[in-house]
Amino acid sequence: MDEFQSALGVVIDRLEEIRDGGGRWPRASREVLALLQQVPSRVSAPVRSKTERLEELRTLVRACDLCPHLAQSRTQTVFGVGNPDADLMFIGEAPGADEDRQGEPFVGRAGQLLTKIIETMGFRRDEVYIANILKSRPDMPAGAPGNRPPTAEEMKNCLPFLIEQIKIVQPKVMVALGATAVEGLLGFRGTMSKLRGNWHSFQDTPLMITFHPSYLLRNQAPAEKRKVWEDMLLVLEKLGRPITPKQRNYFLPASA
Ligand code: URA
Repeated sequence: MDEFQSALGVVIDRLEEIRDGGGRWPRASREVLALLQQVPSRVSAPVRSKTERLEELRTLVRACDLCPHLAQSRTQTVFGVGNPDADLMFIGEAPGADEDRQGEPFVGRAGQLLTKIIETMGFRRDEVYIANILKSRPDMPAGAPGNRPPTAEEMKNCLPFLIEQIKIVQPKVMVALGATAVEGLLGFRGTMSKLRGNWHSFQDTPLMITFHPSYLLRNQAPAEKRKVWEDMLLVLEKLGRPITPKQRNYFLPASA
């Protein structure tokens, strides 16, 4: 609409020039010029809801073949899920096999743990928004088990979709899950022990870094769970959410 308005402005200015200069062609009476001035308000684009904008974006993502190898290997794209008005957004790295099959982020074992963390924070899963940097599962050699991390180039290709999701949802706080997500968002690699628990900013939105839930599946010590939980307490504080004494003390060693 901005481009349209400025193009129209140029046309109106030129018509006025011609008219003031006494030109006979094209003819533009004062009435026609006045009508043209009103056009922007008459044709202003209908306001689309966040849900509609997300659906349009989902269609673009579905058709994307910027990474032809992924477009070929994926079962489907995995767009994002949750509340289009969410205050809180979780960002992972890429779909795994379960997500590729089901078309929804974080539905495998790591996803179930993420859902538990979200619920322990006092949210329902469908109250927050969950997305990945990559919308396609990184391809694996036929029959190979597990997942591979996305490459820097794959993340660079896909990041604009996530940025658009963030612009639409406008969360108040975001959480980056794991070092690969941090690299995709902020462009640097670091050790999670140094990165986690710190606030950064992405798209002018506060971004907390914490461990990926799959790290917690591999390291089940309460001390590691507590680190993630402390990061989530910072997120709750930033959101101004009430924190119960029970929540404050999760995963702390029982006092003697
Ligand atoms: N790990 C991720 O980073 N994202 C998912 O959707 C699932 C596992």
